[in-house]
Amino acid sequence: MSNHDLAIVILAAGKGTRLKSSLAKVLHRAGGRTLIEHVIRACAPLGAKQTIVVVGHQADQVSSMVEPLGAEAVLQQPQHGTGHAMQVARRALGRAKLAVVLPGDAPLVRTETLKALIAAHRAGDAAATILTAVLADPSGYGRILRKSETAVAAIVEESQLTPDQRELNEINSAIYCFTLDKLWPALAHVKPNNHHRELYLTDTIAVMTAKNDTVLAEVAPDPREVLGCNTRADLAEVDRIFRERKRAALMDGGVTIQLPETVLIDPEVTVGEDTVIDPGVQLLGKTKIGARCMIRSGSVLTDALLGDDVTVEPHCVVAQSRLDDRVIIGPFARLRPDNHLKAGARIGNFVELKKSTIGEGTKAMHLTYLGDTKIGAKSNIGAGTITCNYDGFHKFPTSIGNKVFIGSDSALVAPVRIGDGAYVAAGSTITDNVPADALAIARGRQVNKPGWASKKRRELAAAENPKKTKRPRKKSKARRPSKKRP
Ligand code: UD1
Ligand code: MG
Repeated sequence: MSNHDLAIVILAAGKGTRLKSSLAKVLHRAGGRTLIEHVIRACAPLGAKQTIVVVGHQADQVSSMVEPLGAEAVLQQPQHGTGHAMQVARRALGRAKLAVVLPGDAPLVRTETLKALIAAHRAGDAAATILTAVLADPSGYGRILRKSETAVAAIVEESQLTPDQRELNEINSAIYCFTLDKLWPALAHVKPNNHHRELYLTDTIAVMTAKNDTVLAEVAPDPREVLGCNTRADLAEVDRIFRERKRAALMDGGVTIQLPETVLIDPEVTVGEDTVIDPGVQLLGKTKIGARCMIRSGSVLTDALLGDDVTVEPHCVVAQSRLDDRVIIGPFARLRPDNHLKAGARIGNFVELKKSTIGEGTKAMHLTYLGDTKIGAKSNIGAGTITCNYDGFHKFPTSIGNKVFIGSDSALVAPVRIGDGAYVAAGSTITDNVPADALAIARGRQVNKPGWASKKRRELAAAENPKKTKRPRKKSKARRPSKKRP
């Protein structure tokens, strides 16, 4: 389909009063993106000449969201209704013949549906074609008055419905295709004859049909596609539908998702075949997961890159980190940004990493903090090891070689280097570099004092209760029962 004569106009100047929010309506998020971004993305494949977004409330924020997506922002100030918004858009429209007009708050619409709308409009040589939907509960929407099977007579806003019209359940999605030569004269006839004193774009339909212009309706194949987000409840429902679509797409691609309705996945996330995602997992941002991975319950991955056969045990938090093939982390591991875990590395429970590289096959299994640290291959980091990378002013690096053994409860005071094959004795506080293959012990030497503890206990007891305390009796041979031989 060639759409060189087409413009897209997205109406996004409204405040969204019913959301009760300080944030402009179209900047609210559902399905991992702002509402306006979904709409622009759905329109992009139509190949229109230009995309105009009418902005008003929080114009600066909305403009800076839409301009990087290739749209042009036009300011409507003040906002006198959807018809007025189209008059404002007119100034920016070039020589397009057709315009697809969409509200910025109906983000579920699909490109295929918009293509069908344009095709119906062109085929019927219409002045306007309205995308409609048949809803079980049409309340809150403008209703379609039909003239015949195919043609529309008018759109009646909810506030202006007669009691009979309340029964109508075909609604106006506020997505239209207009022939602009027909729209502008009709819009010039529209008056703000409503409670809000606004110019309604919907009123152009009755003007067109009175002039015998053709107005068609294209019914959306899935009525959920046209849901608008006027309230917080609408936002939650739209979010639920986006999440469901994403999970369905991943499952179609060979991913197992257990109890799918509990799993939250952002739109740009990719997951390889035969990966299993357990209940209650969140995969966010640009996370990419390879094949045959296991992502267990309660884990939250943001902008994470996972190779193949990676296991994320329950309740791990991973941000902006790379995990190569066969890495295992958790349960309860926390990876803050900028870590690289090389193939087969293992990070266990209550281990926190930041800006660290963990070499192939290296293990840090328990209760450890590694920050600004580079570790080679096949090293073992004992339980409770801490890199002291911060002096209150600056961060310093720690370097640990290959096949190093760090004993439990060691503190490595950065900057410090531990050479290949070195041992650090448990409980050491390492402040100097350790050469390759050396043993570093940096703690007080152990002294055992025999009998010290029982003597101490007697002294303490005596001090507490001097009368009762008896001196221990000397063992007398006379009292011992005689061991006579039979
Ligand atoms: C609108 C339609 C209604 C339809 C419904 C579908 C009108 C009069 N009514 O009602 O028939 O069933 O959408 O969701 O069009 N906007 C501007 N400038 C303005 C006013 C609004 O840009 O001066 C924008 C809003 O930001 C919003 C869109 O137009 O994105 C629709 O406005 P909204 O107030 O949500 O209209 P609805 O009451 O939902
Ligand atoms: Mg709306």
